[in-house]
Amino acid sequence: MPSFTAHSSVSQPDLDSFSKHLKSSKRILALCGAGLSASSGLPTFRGAGGYWRTYDATQLATSEAFMEDPSLVWQFYNYRRHMALQAKPNRAHFALAELARRNPDFLTISQNVDGLSPRAHHPAETLELLHGSLYDVKCTNFHCDYVEQNNFTDPIVPALEIPQNTGADLDISDAEVPLKDISTGDLPHCPKCKTALLRPGVVWFGEPLPVKTVSRIDDWTSQHIDLILVIGTSAIVYPAAGYIATARKMGARVAVVNMERPDSGASKLNAGDWFFQGDARVVVPQILEAVTGNIEEPR
Ligand code: OAD
Repeated sequence: MPSFTAHSSVSQPDLDSFSKHLKSSKRILALCGAGLSASSGLPTFRGAGGYWRTYDATQLATSEAFMEDPSLVWQFYNYRRHMALQAKPNRAHFALAELARRNPDFLTISQNVDGLSPRAHHPAETLELLHGSLYDVKCTNFHCDYVEQNNFTDPIVPALEIPQNTGADLDISDAEVPLKDISTGDLPHCPKCKTALLRPGVVWFGEPLPVKTVSRIDDWTSQHIDLILVIGTSAIVYPAAGYIATARKMGARVAVVNMERPDSGASKLNAGDWFFQGDARVVVPQILEAVTGNIEEPR
C-alpha cells in the first residue's frame, strides 16, 4: 500500500523514483499550460472556465473574430490583461524558475500568455512563450512592422477601462453584465503607421508560431532529452502538444502533472511515465524539491 504525502496525492514510491531520475537528469524540458496558472485565479480554456460571456474563449482567439468585431476581441483581451495583472505567480511558477537556475540545460515551453512565469523571475533565456504574451502588442497593418513588448498599461487605452460599480470592477466575463459600446476609433491604434489598429501579440488559432521560438525549440530538442514535465495542459493544441512525442523520441521519460488523468490527447500515459494528480501549485514544488529545495508560498 503506497504512502501518500500530506496535501497531495503524490505517493512516496512515485516521488522517490521521480526524484532519483530528476537528480540524474541533465537535459529537462517542461511543457506548461493554463493549469499552471489556475491556482493563481486565472481560468483555463477548456472545462468550466472556458467561456467568456457566451463565447467559447478559443473562438475569440482568432483573426476572423478580430476582423469581425475588434471591440469585442479587445474587450476580451483587455479583461485578460487586467485579470492577469491582478493575479500573482504561484509556487509552481517559482519552482520552475528555481529549477531553471539550478539546472543549466532546462528549457520551459509555456503556452500561457499571462506573464506569470516572467513575473516569477523565470530566467528569460530558458523560457519560450510559444503563444506570445498578453503584454505584447503589434500592428495589424501587413506593411507595418510595429511591435511593442511588455506594455503593462491597464487599461491599454482609456475606452477599454473595465466598468466599475462602487469602486469594484464589474465582471464583464458574465454575459448578464452589459459590455461597453466602443467605437473602432477609440481602440488601440499603431503609433508608427498611425492608421491601423494594434492587436494583442498572442498567437491566434490558424496563425503560425513565432519563427525564432520554434527554431530555438527545434534546435534544443534535436539532442537527447532526459525528462519532460507536462504541467497543466490538456495537450490537444498542436504544435505544442507534439513536443511530448518529440521528447519521447529523444529518450525522455515523461512526468504529467494534472488535476485529471489524461486518458486521451498527446499526454496519454505510457508505461514508465509518472502521473502526479493534483493542483500544480502544490504538486510541482513537491516533485521538484529534491533539486530546488523548499519553495516558499509567495506573499
Ligand atoms: P486547457 O484549458 O486546454 O487545459 C488546462 C489543463 O489544465 C487541463 O488538462 C486541466 O485538467 C488542467 N488543470 C486545471 N487546473 C489545474 C491545476 N490547478 N493544476 C494542474 N492542472 C490543472 O489549457 P491549455 O492546455 O493551456 O491557445 O490550452 C492550450 C492552448 O489552447 C492555449 O494556449 C490556448 C488555448 O486555446 C491559444 O490561445 C493559441
